[in-house]
Amino acid sequence: MDFRKLSFVEAPLIKTTPPGSKSKEFLDLQSSHESSAVSYPRGLPMAIRRAKGATVEDMDGNVYIDFFGGAGVMNVGHSNPQVIDAALNQISELTHSLDVPNPARKSLVEILLSLLPSPLNKLFFGGPTGSDAVEAAMKLARHNTKRHPMIAFEGSYHGMTSGALSLSSGLGFKEDFLPLLSEVHFVPYAYCYRCAFGRKPESCDLDCAKYLEHVLEDPHSGVGRPSAVIVEAVQGEGGTIVPPDVFITKIREICSRYEVLLIVDEIQAGFCRTGKMFAFEHANVVPDMVTMSKALGGVGFPISCVAFKKELDTWPPGKHIGTFRGNVVAYAAGHAALMFMVENRLADHASKLGDIMRTYLKEMEKDSEIVGEARGKGLMLGIEFVYDKASKDPAPEFAQKVRASCHRHGLLIEIGGHYNNVARFLPPLILTEDLATKGIEIFADVVRTVEKSR
Ligand SMILES: Cc1ncc(COP(=O)(O)O)c(C=O)c1O
Repeated sequence: MDFRKLSFVEAPLIKTTPPGSKSKEFLDLQSSHESSAVSYPRGLPMAIRRAKGATVEDMDGNVYIDFFGGAGVMNVGHSNPQVIDAALNQISELTHSLDVPNPARKSLVEILLSLLPSPLNKLFFGGPTGSDAVEAAMKLARHNTKRHPMIAFEGSYHGMTSGALSLSSGLGFKEDFLPLLSEVHFVPYAYCYRCAFGRKPESCDLDCAKYLEHVLEDPHSGVGRPSAVIVEAVQGEGGTIVPPDVFITKIREICSRYEVLLIVDEIQAGFCRTGKMFAFEHANVVPDMVTMSKALGGVGFPISCVAFKKELDTWPPGKHIGTFRGNVVAYAAGHAALMFMVENRLADHASKLGDIMRTYLKEMEKDSEIVGEARGKGLMLGIEFVYDKASKDPAPEFAQKVRASCHRHGLLIEIGGHYNNVARFLPPLILTEDLATKGIEIFADVVRTVEKSR
């Protein structure tokens, strides 16, 4: 398929500096009537009229290149015609069925099982958000092992419900709500740019993975034997942190050796984002459980799912329930999206285009004083800003200015990271090389200009 047809041709087009007057009306209404917890419009102040492919149009007619992709939801592109057709057909047939089977659910189950490694042959559809998949996986791990503790990683993000939040490391998200679940322990991730052990990737001996082993092995580590270890194969909100593949392989080995279940959270990194259908495939491992959501709903229909090994399916009916146990329109959209990914070799496209973009960003890292590290896998890319390359003093204010200026110049990006100093790209995977180049040029110009004005 020619991906050029999927996006608005005029992008980027800035008619009026955002937020324009129409967007502003919506934003004003929102801030008077909605909670102050609303957050994205603070970083990207606009109201959205429509979106297509890898482009978004606001209420004032500005058209943006979208490197944000609805926080990693829009892998097949906004308003993907195949997905929209499938969803529209489904809407006129059946839209809600709790967990009673139906043709749309059957089709999604079949395609998911054909894409997952064969040992992961059971699926569970719970509530509609990624967080709920994480809750379900936690419960299933505890139910099977009869053990309470869990291990997660520094830099992790697994969601906002209490269990998922307990497994997320960011203090900013959780400090007002403590205590959350007890016996959740955090160990260092392979964040090589800021190695917790002060090592360099060239000369390290995977001290981070070894530390997990130490925690499990040493009776005085203070960590009770866990039910599960949960890990993102590439960390998203933590700042697009790409570990060496062997880190994930090692975690798998350690979990097997200590009979601890391994949950891989693919909610953000899954569905072709990193150049494979699932990010754990880079490490050639099979997790015990996999959590999925975001791109699984095709173009933003809410759905989540846990895949796991049959022998773990020991829980009785009703052990994790909710009114929305899956979503019939999302099944149809998800099935169409997965078909689209396979038919269009979206993983390969993400891998190739990601390499091109990363090469460009790596040049920026060399040339710019403020870019500490550019990194990524496939179309999950991150640029970490630091005020000083030697001390790696984080530059969150700079990242915010860059996001705001990119927005004003027609490019949507996200920021995240341990210190909120990482520009993050999660574009729809149907991004063309032309849009990718235009977007990167805007980004590079903005970084240079903001840097000069410091
Ligand atoms: C890796 C990961 N897990 C879980 C979640 C939570 O998903 P949701 O926001 O749909 O609850 C997210 C959301 O960004 C995520 O990136």
